[in-house]
Amino acid sequence: MSTDSIKYKELQKDQKKLKFNKSRIHDWGLFAMEPILRHEFVIEYLGESIRQQVANHREREYEQSGIGSSYLFRVDDDLVVDATVKGNLARFINHCCTPNCCAKIIRVNKTKRIIIYARRDIQPGEEITYDYKFPLEKNKIPCSCGSDRCRGS
Ligand SMILES: C[S@@+](CC[C@H](N)C(=O)[O-])C[C@H]1O[C@@H](n2cnc3c(N)ncnc32)[C@H](O)[C@@H]1O
Ligand SMILES: [Zn+2]
Repeated sequence: MSTDSIKYKELQKDQKKLKFNKSRIHDWGLFAMEPILRHEFVIEYLGESIRQQVANHREREYEQSGIGSSYLFRVDDDLVVDATVKGNLARFINHCCTPNCCAKIIRVNKTKRIIIYARRDIQPGEEITYDYKFPLEKNKIPCSCGSDRCRGS
């Protein structure tokens, strides 16, 4: 087993105690149930790995079927992780312009994985957030993160 795989297996054991609940930001959100320290691993964003073309197709399908939230996480130019059906609790993490976590892409045995880390200490009961870093698009989604430094969309 490679060193990366061993480290990854260790990370998986370290997932923090989390629960989903109603959020002030948007519908459902993910909340810490124990103290989390800065730089600690919080959770992996799991889902189905699909190509960009498939993601475009699914996005249209999901919109047509009335799914109001997007659970598509763009990893790189051609890889998207779709947590709509085969996701874990990380799919409930909302965006914030001043987030308490960040998403990092790591490579384990040639597979890219999305890891959510704490950017600062997090108290039990706090909502887990990261910056979605959406590219500038014409169809901007209004942001309701509530931060003093909210970018607005
Ligand atoms: C990955 S889901 C997050 C979980 C979602 N709140 C739910 O109830 O399933 C992403 C969706 O949540 C909504 N969302 C997340 N952060 C938001 C924010 N800061 N402002 C407005 N909507 C947000 C958007 O509809 C987005 O497509
Ligand atoms: Zn905001």
